[in-house]
Amino acid sequence: MFSTFFFLLIQYYDRELKPGGANIPVTEKNKKEYIERMVKWRIERAVPCILFIPQVVDARLVSVFDARELELVIAGTAEIDLSDWRNNTEYRGGYHDNHIVIRWFWAAVERFNNEQRLRLLQFVTGTSSIPYEGFASLRGSNGPRRFCVEKWGKITALPRAHTCFNRLDLPPYPSFSMLYEKLLTAVEETSTFGLE
Ligand SMILES: *[C@@H]1O[C@H](CO)[C@@H](O)[C@H](O)[C@H]1NC(C)=O
Repeated sequence: MFSTFFFLLIQYYDRELKPGGANIPVTEKNKKEYIERMVKWRIERAVPCILFIPQVVDARLVSVFDARELELVIAGTAEIDLSDWRNNTEYRGGYHDNHIVIRWFWAAVERFNNEQRLRLLQFVTGTSSIPYEGFASLRGSNGPRRFCVEKWGKITALPRAHTCFNRLDLPPYPSFSMLYEKLLTAVEETSTFGLE
């Protein structure tokens, strides 16, 4: 059985969960160890580098994503300050705060409920926990790294994310409704992983 899920491509650039970890794919077998190491990382507030790419993958891989569900539970359900988030967001590839696609993006996030916002944050940064000092002190894999939205891809693609750089690759969708739907799909698909 195949269905659309997010295929997790783990890229540990300068830090690895364990020696040689960059070359070890997460499988059913080592999932438990992966989760344990991941949780330890969370507690130490380190951010692993993960590139989330929407793809069609074998449903057998799905349970690997329990790690993300677990993280949401651990991180709790803090209320997100959208104004602080937006004020501390950078843009690349031609986007800017007043760009129509970016205005739709924030309108979409505004329409999201708090859990969906946390999932978006987790999708892009690898963790749903908000820094104690606010979005200005968001960290990437090697030091401070603000939330970033980059113009990328064709409008047929789903948004993707690089947790290493806290960067969302957002295609320039031609309408609010399309952006809303694609963004929500990218963010919510992950919730099905825990149901396996
Ligand atoms: C974000 O910036 C706006 C405009 O500069 C300001 O009014 C608002 O207070 C800021 N919000 C936060 C949480 O810093």
